[in-house]
Amino acid sequence: MTIIHLSDLHFGMPEYVKELGTNVLRKMKEIKPDIIIITGDITNSGYLEDYEEAKEFIDSLESKRKLIVPGNHDARNAGYLLFEEFFKTRYPVMKIGNLKIVGVDSSQPDLDDGHIGRSIYDFVRKELEGFPVKIVVLHHHLIPVPETGRERNIPMDAGDFLKLISQLKVNLVLCGHKHVPWFWKLNGILMINAGTATTRRTKARVEASFNVIKIEEERNIFVERLSSRTFKKELIYNGVI
Ligand SMILES: [Fe+2]
Ligand SMILES: [Fe+2]
Repeated sequence: MTIIHLSDLHFGMPEYVKELGTNVLRKMKEIKPDIIIITGDITNSGYLEDYEEAKEFIDSLESKRKLIVPGNHDARNAGYLLFEEFFKTRYPVMKIGNLKIVGVDSSQPDLDDGHIGRSIYDFVRKELEGFPVKIVVLHHHLIPVPETGRERNIPMDAGDFLKLISQLKVNLVLCGHKHVPWFWKLNGILMINAGTATTRRTKARVEASFNVIKIEEERNIFVERLSSRTFKKELIYNGVI
Protein backbone atom coordinates (compact mmCIF):
# COMPACT_ATOMS: atom_id res chain seq x y z
CA MET A 1 0.00 0.00 0.00
CA THR A 2 1.55 3.28 -1.09
CA ILE A 3 0.24 6.53 0.37
CA ILE A 4 1.36 9.92 -0.89
CA HIS A 5 1.09 12.65 1.69
CA LEU A 6 0.90 16.14 0.20
CA SER A 7 0.21 19.36 2.06
CA ASP A 8 0.00 23.12 1.79
CA LEU A 9 -0.34 23.53 -1.96
CA HIS A 10 -1.60 27.13 -1.54
CA PHE A 11 -3.16 27.71 -4.95
CA GLY A 12 -3.62 31.46 -5.43
CA MET A 13 -0.50 32.43 -3.48
CA PRO A 14 2.24 34.38 -5.29
CA GLU A 15 4.71 31.95 -3.72
CA TYR A 16 3.06 28.99 -5.48
CA VAL A 17 5.69 27.58 -7.86
CA LYS A 18 4.27 26.09 -11.05
CA GLU A 19 7.38 24.03 -11.69
CA LEU A 20 6.96 22.29 -8.32
CA GLY A 21 3.30 21.54 -9.09
CA THR A 22 4.29 20.05 -12.45
CA ASN A 23 6.98 17.96 -10.74
CA VAL A 24 4.45 16.59 -8.25
CA LEU A 25 2.03 15.68 -11.05
CA ARG A 26 4.84 13.95 -12.94
CA LYS A 27 5.97 11.97 -9.90
CA MET A 28 2.40 10.77 -9.19
CA LYS A 29 2.22 9.34 -12.73
CA GLU A 30 5.37 7.38 -11.95
CA ILE A 31 4.45 6.23 -8.43
CA LYS A 32 0.73 5.62 -9.07
CA PRO A 33 -0.07 5.63 -5.33
CA ASP A 34 -2.98 3.67 -3.89
CA ILE A 35 -4.13 6.84 -2.18
CA ILE A 36 -3.17 10.51 -2.09
CA ILE A 37 -3.82 12.29 1.20
CA ILE A 38 -3.72 16.09 1.27
CA THR A 39 -3.54 17.72 4.70
CA GLY A 40 -5.03 21.11 3.89
CA ASP A 41 -4.19 24.61 2.72
CA ILE A 42 -4.93 23.57 -0.82
CA THR A 43 -5.83 27.24 -1.46
CA ASN A 44 -4.29 30.42 -0.17
CA SER A 45 -7.39 32.49 0.57
CA GLY A 46 -10.36 30.20 0.03
CA TYR A 47 -11.43 32.19 -3.04
CA LEU A 48 -13.44 30.53 -5.79
CA GLU A 49 -10.66 30.84 -8.36
CA ASP A 50 -8.13 29.37 -5.90
CA TYR A 51 -10.46 26.40 -5.42
CA GLU A 52 -10.97 25.99 -9.16
CA GLU A 53 -7.21 25.81 -9.73
CA ALA A 54 -6.68 23.47 -6.77
CA LYS A 55 -9.49 21.18 -7.96
CA GLU A 56 -8.05 20.97 -11.46
CA PHE A 57 -4.64 20.09 -10.03
CA ILE A 58 -6.00 17.50 -7.60
CA ASP A 59 -8.15 15.92 -10.33
CA SER A 60 -5.07 15.43 -12.49
CA LEU A 61 -3.07 13.71 -9.73
CA GLU A 62 -2.75 10.07 -10.69
CA SER A 63 -4.43 7.92 -8.03
CA LYS A 64 -7.65 5.97 -7.63
CA ARG A 65 -8.31 7.41 -4.20
CA LYS A 66 -7.88 10.87 -2.72
CA LEU A 67 -8.65 12.08 0.77
CA ILE A 68 -8.47 15.80 1.51
CA VAL A 69 -9.06 17.89 4.63
CA PRO A 70 -9.26 21.70 4.76
CA GLY A 71 -6.64 23.95 6.35
CA ASN A 72 -6.93 27.39 7.93
CA HIS A 73 -6.31 29.08 4.56
CA ASP A 74 -9.10 27.06 2.91
CA ALA A 75 -11.63 28.16 5.53
CA ARG A 76 -10.98 31.87 4.90
CA ASN A 77 -13.60 34.03 3.20
CA ALA A 78 -16.28 31.34 3.67
CA GLY A 79 -14.04 29.01 1.66
CA TYR A 80 -15.16 26.11 3.87
CA LEU A 81 -18.45 26.23 1.90
CA LEU A 82 -16.52 25.89 -1.36
CA PHE A 83 -14.45 23.07 0.14
CA GLU A 84 -17.67 21.12 0.73
CA GLU A 85 -18.90 21.98 -2.74
CA PHE A 86 -15.70 20.79 -4.45
CA PHE A 87 -14.73 17.89 -2.18
CA LYS A 88 -18.09 16.86 -0.64
CA THR A 89 -17.09 16.74 3.02
CA ARG A 90 -14.69 18.27 5.55
CA TYR A 91 -14.68 14.94 7.42
CA PRO A 92 -13.75 12.31 4.81
CA VAL A 93 -13.58 8.65 5.81
CA MET A 94 -12.02 5.83 3.81
CA LYS A 95 -11.52 2.12 4.35
CA ILE A 96 -8.87 0.26 2.35
CA GLY A 97 -8.43 -3.36 3.39
CA ASN A 98 -7.59 -3.34 7.09
CA LEU A 99 -6.80 0.39 7.02
CA LYS A 100 -9.30 2.97 8.21
CA ILE A 101 -8.57 6.62 7.51
CA VAL A 102 -10.53 9.43 9.16
CA GLY A 103 -10.11 13.06 8.13
CA VAL A 104 -10.94 15.86 10.56
CA ASP A 105 -11.42 19.57 9.84
CA SER A 106 -9.27 21.40 12.41
CA SER A 107 -9.82 24.84 10.88
CA GLN A 108 -12.05 27.70 11.96
CA PRO A 109 -13.23 30.35 9.50
CA ASP A 110 -10.88 33.35 9.40
CA LEU A 111 -8.71 32.14 12.27
CA ASP A 112 -5.32 30.49 12.00
CA ASP A 113 -5.70 28.59 15.27
CA GLY A 114 -6.64 24.96 15.17
CA HIS A 115 -9.69 23.52 16.89
CA ILE A 116 -11.18 20.04 16.56
CA GLY A 117 -14.08 20.25 19.00
CA ARG A 118 -15.46 17.72 21.48
CA SER A 119 -18.55 17.10 19.34
CA ILE A 120 -16.27 15.43 16.77
CA TYR A 121 -14.66 12.97 19.20
CA ASP A 122 -17.56 10.48 19.07
CA PHE A 123 -17.47 10.46 15.28
CA VAL A 124 -13.72 9.71 15.35
CA ARG A 125 -14.22 6.98 17.96
CA LYS A 126 -17.08 5.30 16.08
CA GLU A 127 -15.23 5.37 12.76
CA LEU A 128 -11.97 3.96 14.12
CA GLU A 129 -12.92 1.47 16.82
CA GLY A 130 -12.23 -2.13 15.85
CA PHE A 131 -9.96 -1.47 12.88
CA PRO A 132 -6.48 -3.03 12.85
CA VAL A 133 -4.75 0.03 11.37
CA LYS A 134 -6.10 3.49 12.20
CA ILE A 135 -5.02 6.71 10.50
CA VAL A 136 -6.11 10.24 11.47
CA VAL A 137 -5.65 13.11 9.02
CA LEU A 138 -5.86 16.80 9.96
CA HIS A 139 -4.26 20.09 8.96
CA HIS A 140 -2.90 21.41 12.25
CA HIS A 141 0.01 19.78 14.05
CA LEU A 142 -0.79 18.34 17.49
CA ILE A 143 2.75 18.73 18.87
CA PRO A 144 5.12 21.68 18.21
CA VAL A 145 7.40 21.37 15.21
CA PRO A 146 11.04 22.47 15.65
CA GLU A 147 12.43 25.54 13.86
CA THR A 148 9.02 27.04 13.20
CA GLY A 149 9.23 29.97 15.59
CA ARG A 150 6.74 30.83 18.26
CA GLU A 151 4.13 28.14 18.76
CA ARG A 152 0.60 29.46 18.28
CA ASN A 153 -1.74 27.40 16.09
CA ILE A 154 -1.86 23.98 17.73
CA PRO A 155 -5.52 22.94 18.15
CA MET A 156 -6.87 24.42 21.36
CA ASP A 157 -8.07 20.98 22.36
CA ALA A 158 -4.87 19.17 21.27
CA GLY A 159 -4.41 17.61 24.72
CA ASP A 160 -7.89 16.07 24.77
CA PHE A 161 -7.60 14.95 21.16
CA LEU A 162 -4.19 13.35 21.82
CA LYS A 163 -5.74 11.49 24.75
CA LEU A 164 -8.59 10.26 22.52
CA ILE A 165 -6.33 8.98 19.74
CA SER A 166 -4.00 7.46 22.30
CA GLN A 167 -6.92 5.55 23.89
CA LEU A 168 -8.07 4.45 20.43
CA LYS A 169 -4.53 3.21 19.68
CA VAL A 170 -4.34 5.21 16.49
CA ASN A 171 -1.29 4.08 14.48
CA LEU A 172 -0.60 7.09 12.31
CA VAL A 173 -1.45 10.82 12.25
CA LEU A 174 -0.80 12.92 9.15
CA CYS A 175 -0.79 16.71 9.30
CA GLY A 176 0.69 19.85 7.73
CA HIS A 177 0.35 23.61 8.36
CA LYS A 178 3.88 24.58 9.46
CA HIS A 179 5.54 23.99 6.07
CA VAL A 180 8.31 22.16 7.90
CA PRO A 181 8.44 18.36 7.66
CA TRP A 182 8.95 16.46 10.89
CA PHE A 183 7.81 13.39 12.81
CA TRP A 184 7.20 12.44 16.42
CA LYS A 185 6.32 9.12 17.98
CA LEU A 186 4.19 9.51 21.06
CA ASN A 187 2.36 6.78 23.01
CA GLY A 188 2.89 4.45 20.04
CA ILE A 189 1.39 6.93 17.54
CA LEU A 190 3.59 7.94 14.61
CA MET A 191 2.83 11.58 13.76
CA ILE A 192 4.07 12.86 10.44
CA ASN A 193 4.10 16.51 9.40
CA ALA A 194 4.44 17.19 5.69
CA GLY A 195 6.16 20.33 4.40
CA THR A 196 4.68 22.44 1.63
CA ALA A 197 4.69 20.49 -1.64
CA THR A 198 4.36 23.32 -4.13
CA THR A 199 5.36 26.71 -2.67
CA ARG A 200 8.51 28.64 -1.89
CA ARG A 201 7.01 29.51 1.49
CA THR A 202 9.57 27.45 3.37
CA LYS A 203 11.92 28.14 6.25
CA ALA A 204 15.74 28.37 6.22
CA ARG A 205 17.06 25.61 3.93
CA VAL A 206 13.98 23.39 4.18
CA GLU A 207 12.89 22.47 0.67
CA ALA A 208 9.38 22.02 -0.68
CA SER A 209 8.63 18.33 -0.30
CA PHE A 210 6.08 15.56 0.11
CA ASN A 211 6.03 12.17 1.82
CA VAL A 212 5.87 8.69 0.35
CA ILE A 213 4.51 6.22 2.90
CA LYS A 214 4.52 2.46 2.37
CA ILE A 215 2.57 0.22 4.71
CA GLU A 216 3.17 -3.50 4.30
CA GLU A 217 2.18 -6.66 6.14
CA GLU A 218 -0.33 -4.77 8.21
CA ARG A 219 1.95 -2.54 10.33
CA ASN A 220 5.39 -2.29 8.74
CA ILE A 221 5.81 1.30 7.70
CA PHE A 222 8.46 2.95 5.55
CA VAL A 223 8.36 6.73 5.17
CA GLU A 224 10.46 8.74 2.73
CA ARG A 225 10.48 12.47 2.05
CA LEU A 226 10.97 13.59 -1.54
CA SER A 227 12.08 17.06 -2.56
CA SER A 228 9.49 18.52 -4.96
CA ARG A 229 12.29 20.19 -6.90
CA THR A 230 14.98 17.50 -7.21
CA PHE A 231 13.12 14.35 -6.01
CA LYS A 232 16.03 13.80 -3.64
CA LYS A 233 14.93 11.18 -1.11
CA GLU A 234 15.40 11.11 2.63
CA LEU A 235 14.43 8.22 4.86
CA ILE A 236 12.19 9.43 7.66
CA TYR A 237 11.01 6.30 9.38
CA ASN A 238 11.33 2.57 8.97
CA GLY A 239 9.63 0.50 11.62
CA VAL A 240 6.37 -0.82 12.95
CA ILE A 241 3.27 1.16 13.83
FE1 LIG B 1 0.05 26.40 4.78
FE1 LIG C 1 -2.09 26.23 7.52
